[in-house]
Amino acid sequence: MTYAIIGSGAIGSAIATHFARAALDVHVANSRGPATIAPLAARLGGYIKPAAVEDALKADVVFLAIPFHAVLPAVLDAGDWNGRIVVDATNAIEFPSFKPLDLGGRPSSQLIAETVPGSRVVKAFNTLPAAILASDPRSDGGRRVLFVSGDHADANQTIAALIADLGFSPLVLGALHEGGRLQQFGAALVAQNLSRHG
Ligand SMILES: NC(=O)c1ccc[n+]([C@@H]2O[C@H](COP(=O)([O-])OP(=O)(O)OC[C@H]3O[C@@H](n4cnc5c(N)ncnc54)[C@H](OP(=O)(O)O)[C@@H]3O)[C@@H](O)[C@H]2O)c1
Repeated sequence: MTYAIIGSGAIGSAIATHFARAALDVHVANSRGPATIAPLAARLGGYIKPAAVEDALKADVVFLAIPFHAVLPAVLDAGDWNGRIVVDATNAIEFPSFKPLDLGGRPSSQLIAETVPGSRVVKAFNTLPAAILASDPRSDGGRRVLFVSGDHADANQTIAALIADLGFSPLVLGALHEGGRLQQFGAALVAQNLSRHG
């Protein structure tokens, strides 16, 4: 399984931190090119592979850790997704009011899914502030919970297993119109820093 993160900002770096801790290779790309990922790779170690966006988009699992409005331009060179997994870590936020974007009542990840047709979209890694997401998921003796939603049960399980490998406790909520709604920006599960013990 190959992994890539599009976005090397607060959330992309937080996710990359856990790949490095788990000794899993991950390609990381941003809008400015691989050379600008070098400091992150130097900090986190050799598991972090700086990449161009068009190469990162070829991974089996592609994380979107970029602004919601940037997803469409970022995935233009993705080609055929062939059922590969897209992990949607974005939040649909209106700036500068910092309110949920008006999406006409549709779950934000359904709109993302329409932007990456032929992929299997899983919403995850979007509910915690970046600094908390980056920290040790076992810090209080339990395991920090990460929510997982998506319309493809097999993809949900793949990402749940990855989340466990990264040291977190996955909680699969169901389809995008169910769980996805609960974990999208402005909903009940956002900013809930929960741990599972035992
Ligand atoms: N920050 C949080 O606490 C938090 C929590 C939960 C969810 N989120 C969500 O996570 C996403 C990322 O947030 P963030 O705080 O990590 O943002 P950020 O620190 O501003 O980083 C955004 C990253 O996206 C990259 N990017 C933007 N447009 C791109 C494009 N067209 N192609 C490739 N890369 C592109 C930027 O590239 P450059 O580095 O080249 O500028 C940057 O690396 C957002 O949707 C946000 O709502 C954030």
